[in-house]
Amino acid sequence: MAITTQQLIQFKQQGRSIVALTAWDYAIAQLLDAAGVDIILVGDSLAMVTLGYPTTLPLTLDEILHHAKAVRRGVKRAFLMVDLPFLSYQESPQQAMHSAGRVLKEAGAQAVKLEGGHPVMVDTVGRLTAAGIPVMGHIGLTPQSVHQLGYRQQGKSAEAGERIFAEAIALEQAGAFAMLLEHIPMELAARITQKLSIPTIGIGAGSHCDGQVLVTADLLGLSERLPPFAKSYANLRQVITQAVQDYSHEVREGQFPAES
Ligand code: KIV
Repeated sequence: MAITTQQLIQFKQQGRSIVALTAWDYAIAQLLDAAGVDIILVGDSLAMVTLGYPTTLPLTLDEILHHAKAVRRGVKRAFLMVDLPFLSYQESPQQAMHSAGRVLKEAGAQAVKLEGGHPVMVDTVGRLTAAGIPVMGHIGLTPQSVHQLGYRQQGKSAEAGERIFAEAIALEQAGAFAMLLEHIPMELAARITQKLSIPTIGIGAGSHCDGQVLVTADLLGLSERLPPFAKSYANLRQVITQAVQDYSHEVREGQFPAES
């Protein structure tokens, strides 16, 4: 049975840390699912790590749907969630409804994630959840606003921290079932986590969140550069380069294929 929103909320109540990772294709999704990851996110970071765009902004809804459908085919147990790309939901609540609807209908996702805690976005989250579409909020550093925020840590001043705190509460009240906290001070993330009844999933937000997410390309050592808060648990760039060099050498030396 696939994990549900209710189970994720129960995990928080039980103090069981939630493990989340991103995926962009069938093979990666199958591996993460079989390894027991709780949430698989088809994040718009795939724009940068998989498609080579300089930011997440160029990614289209059709592009992320293409990847999300492949991920869906690889996931049996994990909770599957998909990011709404830049300008697929900000224009109007109707646009958000249409985009989120496509993500659920065409890719079989269980939820969408969207960025921002401005009252306009809170209203959109309220309308989506009223229509039965589970939404995860995403506040703090929101990469779709890179031209306003850069990639700097957010919520450092008391005033900025209070704004993010208020956004978290407003999004929960609007019906969000979970909250992604990106690159904010640990103490602020801890306060938000304590205040909310829904689970917080942190990235660059310290150890007091209800769960953690990493971009899988960073975890595997596939990314060219890592954000300061990420950790690599493998170096696949090195493994792949070595394998390709070994293969090239054997082909050129006539060692592959062997007689046998
Ligand atoms: O797009 C993404 O990968 C994200 C990360 C913050 C997990 O949203």
